[in-house]
Amino acid sequence: MSENALLQVKDLSVSIDNELPILHNINLEIKPGETHVLMGPNGAGKSTLGYTLMGNPHYCVTEGSILFEGQDITDLSADKRAKAGMFLSFQNPHEVPGISMSSFIRNASHAQTGAPVKLLAYKKALKGAMDVLSMDEAYADRDLNVGFSGGEKKKAEILQLLMLNPKLAILDETDSGLDVDAVRTVSKGIEEYQKKKDGALLIITHSTKILESLHVDYTHVLVKGNIVHTGDGSLVDEINANGFERFVKED
Ligand SMILES: Nc1ncnc2c1ncn2[C@@H]1O[C@H](COP(=O)(O)OP(=O)(O)OP(=O)(O)O)[C@@H](O)[C@H]1O
Ligand SMILES: [Mg+2]
Repeated sequence: MSENALLQVKDLSVSIDNELPILHNINLEIKPGETHVLMGPNGAGKSTLGYTLMGNPHYCVTEGSILFEGQDITDLSADKRAKAGMFLSFQNPHEVPGISMSSFIRNASHAQTGAPVKLLAYKKALKGAMDVLSMDEAYADRDLNVGFSGGEKKKAEILQLLMLNPKLAILDETDSGLDVDAVRTVSKGIEEYQKKKDGALLIITHSTKILESLHVDYTHVLVKGNIVHTGDGSLVDEINANGFERFVKED
């Protein structure tokens, strides 16, 4: 493992609620600015890895460890991981009744840094980020995700990414349910995050479209809770053409 790694996952095994083993002996290293893609059949454990990295308490680490900037975060709460600079965009974003999208993101920004988030500057930044994502301004005052379409929810996740500027963003099927134009718009947003912050990405996806304008450094294939293969960006196209059959057989 190298010294300048942002995220180091070492021999990680994970069970759900301490009963159902899902992930086995996962090793993964992400450096600042790198883009990693995680692919695999439905049910392989990709979202489980995302949740575990973010500290969801239902996902219990039974073996191994997670280090972020050299610090062991295996037992750290999700809040503290967010403060440290980690971010997860959910496969199925939750509705948050009673809190506008604008307030939610402002609170998250405040929680992240502890510093006050000045309203005028914040509103200007929010509008700028919403423009990048072609989101109508009126959505800022709507309760987060309540009544949002599937694609609008995914855009709201990327809006949070742009506003929070984490060191590492884990995007769980951010592209699913997006129309062709929206995929491009969201991809632009991700590119902007990457450039601005030298941000690192772990992108979970079933599709190549979101990756078209991004440089992919590594592609990992997860099958039945094991990373069975790691390759470069071209592996995404190979999987797109040939499916997972050869990896399932290798397993
Ligand atoms: N809370 C839970 N209770 C029981 N089983 C669960 C729970 N969460 C996940 N699983 C199981 O763990 C396995 C991995 O699920 P996970 O959601 O991580 O898969 P995935 O690779 O993200 O799949 P997809 O591509 O369909 O999103 C699945 O068999 C799933 O049914
Ligand atoms: Mg999933």
